[in-house]
Amino acid sequence: MSVLVTGGAGYIGSHTAVELLDSGFDVVVVDNLCNSNRESLRRVEALTGKKLTFIEGDICDANWLDQVFASHNIDSVIHFAALKAVGESVSRPIDYYHNNVSGTLALLAAMNKAGVSKLVFSSSATVYGSSAKVPYREDQATGGTTNPYGSSKLIIENMLLDCAKANPALSVAMLRYFNPIGAHESGLIGEDPQGIPNNLMPFIAQVAVGKRSQLSVFGGDYNTPDGTCLRDYLHVVDLAVGHVQALDWVANNQGAKPFNLGTGNGTSVLEMIAAFEAASGVKIPYEIVPRREGDLEGFWADSRLAEQELGWKAKLSLERMMIDTWRWQHGNPNGYLPS
Ligand code: NAD
Ligand code: UD1
Repeated sequence: MSVLVTGGAGYIGSHTAVELLDSGFDVVVVDNLCNSNRESLRRVEALTGKKLTFIEGDICDANWLDQVFASHNIDSVIHFAALKAVGESVSRPIDYYHNNVSGTLALLAAMNKAGVSKLVFSSSATVYGSSAKVPYREDQATGGTTNPYGSSKLIIENMLLDCAKANPALSVAMLRYFNPIGAHESGLIGEDPQGIPNNLMPFIAQVAVGKRSQLSVFGGDYNTPDGTCLRDYLHVVDLAVGHVQALDWVANNQGAKPFNLGTGNGTSVLEMIAAFEAASGVKIPYEIVPRREGDLEGFWADSRLAEQELGWKAKLSLERMMIDTWRWQHGNPNGYLPS
């Protein structure tokens, strides 16, 4: 059975490609490499000992997408391709809405033409917006997103719900990721952000290898046990496995349904620094600076629905997330570029 993986050369996509190949799926990756490197997929093949099909292109190109579906016997789709930098989305809203929303529309139209009706979509905990109660549950209202990136995910979720209402054959698992971190235990693939990382884990990892001098901790005056924000960090391999399980769900269900994928634990920024230091033996210099605009104090997942319906539960510990992050960063200080 062939799975089309959009954005499969990226961070989560490459880890998911490993799990798919290991589970016996044929994998067709489409990616325009705007935020990734072809090398990630070579390494996926090296570590699984299996071949995948890679087609370079942009999902916004409807004619090209039609050709992809016409020339491969696609059974289902996992849709990762998106722009994801929150700050950049505020200054480039047209690009974000075009790429994320129009790209998904083009994909849905191509799937419709090709008669493909099973889709797993990369959503985000960001769709709960700023007034949701923790732990986040799927039956809480969405909305109140504060940036074009978050709004693009919410618009797509609503589009998918409408499409599923109109087409009873359509089956969509909308996976709301919390904070994926870590890397494959082989140390061959991992997160490779372009430029200065926006997210905490890759920033800590780059400080550890000396690419950045110190970490700025955004805000030490939150109403949390140590004053820093709480997040639900989950191992990217657990997340990748969740996609394989979601494929099974879409094969056996109809309609569009959201699922939280998180561990259920909130960890503070200072706890993250301490956990990384313990796993790597490297000291992370940091300074507490003013809060980052738009940051929420703390949120974590209630993932019982994913457990009940997908059979998914996060298994890998925070220590494993740190050990695997360090193995990847230490072995690949320049990511996929040669050292
Ligand atoms: P990533 O940037 O590493 O991967 C996205 C991939 O999509 C990249 O390889 C990029 O080149 C490709 N891409 C982007 N636009 C494209 C287009 N128009 N056509 C073809 N390819 C295109 O990001 P990631 O961290 O792997 O995230 C994957 C998905 O998960 C995204 O949809 C993201 O919004 C979502 N998500 C990520 C996180 C996170 O913390 N990483 C959290 C919640 C949701
Ligand atoms: C951010 C995005 C969110 C997106 C998620 C995953 C914002 C406001 N939100 O969320 O929409 O879904 O990434 O891609 O950007 N931190 C520091 N110093 C740093 C970096 C982060 O102290 O250099 C802190 C943050 O204040 C936060 C925590 O670390 O408390 C985690 O930050 P980050 O990794 O950016 O994730 P989110 O804030 O959850």
